[in-house]
Amino acid sequence: MRAIMVGFGAVGKAFAEMISKRSSTLEKEYGIIPKIVAIVDRGGALINQQGLDLQEAISIRHANGSVAGHKTMGHRGATVMTVINSVEADVFLELTPTKLPDGEPGLTHIESAIKKGLNVITTNKGPISAAMPSLLELAQYQKVQLRFSGTVGGGIPILNFAKKCLTGCNIESVEGILNGTTNHILTRMLDAGISFNAALKEAQEAGYAEADPSYDINGLDTASKLVIMCNWIMGRRVSLKDIEIEGISNVTVEDIIREKRSEKAIKLVGSIDENEISVRPRSIPFDSPLCVKGNLNAVVFNTDIAGSITVTGRGAGGTETASAVLRDLIDIKETLLE
Ligand SMILES: NC(=O)c1ccc[n+]([C@@H]2O[C@H](COP(=O)([O-])OP(=O)(O)OC[C@H]3O[C@@H](n4cnc5c(N)ncnc54)[C@H](OP(=O)(O)O)[C@@H]3O)[C@@H](O)[C@H]2O)c1
Repeated sequence: MRAIMVGFGAVGKAFAEMISKRSSTLEKEYGIIPKIVAIVDRGGALINQQGLDLQEAISIRHANGSVAGHKTMGHRGATVMTVINSVEADVFLELTPTKLPDGEPGLTHIESAIKKGLNVITTNKGPISAAMPSLLELAQYQKVQLRFSGTVGGGIPILNFAKKCLTGCNIESVEGILNGTTNHILTRMLDAGISFNAALKEAQEAGYAEADPSYDINGLDTASKLVIMCNWIMGRRVSLKDIEIEGISNVTVEDIIREKRSEKAIKLVGSIDENEISVRPRSIPFDSPLCVKGNLNAVVFNTDIAGSITVTGRGAGGTETASAVLRDLIDIKETLLE
């Protein structure tokens, strides 16, 4: 399978390393011989229609700041559109940063790739939360696959679990801790008794929070994941404007200590039920399965016939999220064989 990879950051590089290490298993167990034929970053593109040497691509980017620094195969200033229109491929991997609420430029990248007849895998929640129904319709019209399992929960198969494993159940409501950065901050405020600002600074210094963590803190990151879950799992046409959103910047250490006395922790919880879709800080009993610590994520699905089921794990990280890209790639291959 020939792939164009747009975005060569934490997820892109981890995916490149993963498929290099697993090439024989992928071929033997799934019949996949993945070949990355182009990588695009903000500096330009690296292209080899025969398949790139991925270790070399990582070294070139490290040495030059862009994959386009390759002496013979680098194309400085080449854009995503040029690559889509000039490189032969089967799959397009969209791994650029999330921008909310419009999802650009990822949304244009994905639409263009689908129109060109490419199957698409993305971990970028921006385009999917902005335009999932129309993207799915376009993909169906173009007879290609669109997969986005890494957009919610990173490597935790939250979307696949709900869609594939809860078949036959009615999911009546969902509650989730879907943002590892805010969970880490709230956990440090609880365990170390430090202020919101001190916990945020500590998380940034330790590399758990981005330099601009505003989508995490203001609840927009969690809200965009709820939009994806509502549309994909529950078949409800919902957009960001339908969600009540409150972030965690007003949570004080005093609030947290008060709740701790009654054996509860304040968490940023995204909830979906028939009356409301919301993101807000809520007090969760210590013994609830939702009360996970640090940068963990957890989602509770309340169903009519299987009861309440919790899925938990690390909701972020380059390697974990790249595992979702690999899962989607295998899924596309298996779908194409059906
Ligand atoms: N990292 C995680 O734990 C995680 C978890 C779940 C979902 N995600 C999502 O996965 C996506 C990728 O995340 P990441 O952590 O890998 O991001 P990242 O480390 O910031 O890397 C982003 C990459 O995209 C490239 N890029 C940015 N704008 C571009 C453009 N217009 N055209 C071409 N390339 C462009 C960047 O180029 P330069 O290298 O030139 O800057 C960089 O290589 C994001 O949408 C993120 O929200 C990430």
